[in-house]
Amino acid sequence: MEINLISGALGAEVKGIDLKDSTSENWDKINQLMLEHKVLFFREQKISSQEQIDLAKKFGPLEMHAYVKGLPEYPEIIRIKKGANEKHQWGETWHTDVSYNPKPTKVIILRSRKIPPVGGDTMFSNMELAYETLDQNMKKRLEGKKAIHSSLGAAAFVDKYEEMHGNGNIDEYSNVHPIVRAHPETGNKILFVNSMYTKKILDISDEESDEILNKLFLHQERLDFTCRFKWTENAVAIWDNRCTLHQGLTDFFPGRGLGHERIMDRIAIQGDRPV
Ligand code: SIN
Repeated sequence: MEINLISGALGAEVKGIDLKDSTSENWDKINQLMLEHKVLFFREQKISSQEQIDLAKKFGPLEMHAYVKGLPEYPEIIRIKKGANEKHQWGETWHTDVSYNPKPTKVIILRSRKIPPVGGDTMFSNMELAYETLDQNMKKRLEGKKAIHSSLGAAAFVDKYEEMHGNGNIDEYSNVHPIVRAHPETGNKILFVNSMYTKKILDISDEESDEILNKLFLHQERLDFTCRFKWTENAVAIWDNRCTLHQGLTDFFPGRGLGHERIMDRIAIQGDRPV
């Protein structure tokens, strides 16, 4: 096995592990590496949809998306498709997946099927580092505080993207989570807000909430907390959604990345209620 760190903050590219092998022994290695590096990347893994599902199930029960329809034969898989001439893609801008759910996603397994010659890398950011590097005054202000996370409604996930299809649910809903959560497996503290879904801190004025959230968003998106993965076809990313942010970059410009499809298969594993 070979492990190459891809930034100083998080992320490792792993060679010598076969993702078709869904034995507990293999999964245990993957899980330990994921807990250590937060996001793992594997290249040349031509896994089938069933093999992707088998691997995902080792992490726990699978999660269905609130708004997006899965593949007809594999409803647990969302095909994230960007049309050749679309500038935008699903998952653009920093977020933690479904932080608006009572139990936000534990782990995501994303597999590339079609990749533009350039553009559409995925970025990740380490929210344990983001918490650790807050100043003492901000840590004190956040003690015991909770925030509302909104699901935004179906339009944000479906209507905006030509190739994404809804499952019929349109209603917006929200849930409240602690701003600082503990990782359920390592106990590490995590800054658990994101600029896509976190809307308001409870029990303080709107002005103070905006002031704190804007500071936190700016802080957590610092480039020195991040890593960036340039996709190739049949690559797989496995990330710990509990302690990271991510975004699919939309650097599709005429004469460069625009004019090419991007197709990814995503499976989500259910998480715990943040505490
Ligand atoms: C996502 O936000 O889950 C998708 C990210 C990507 O396609 O790069």
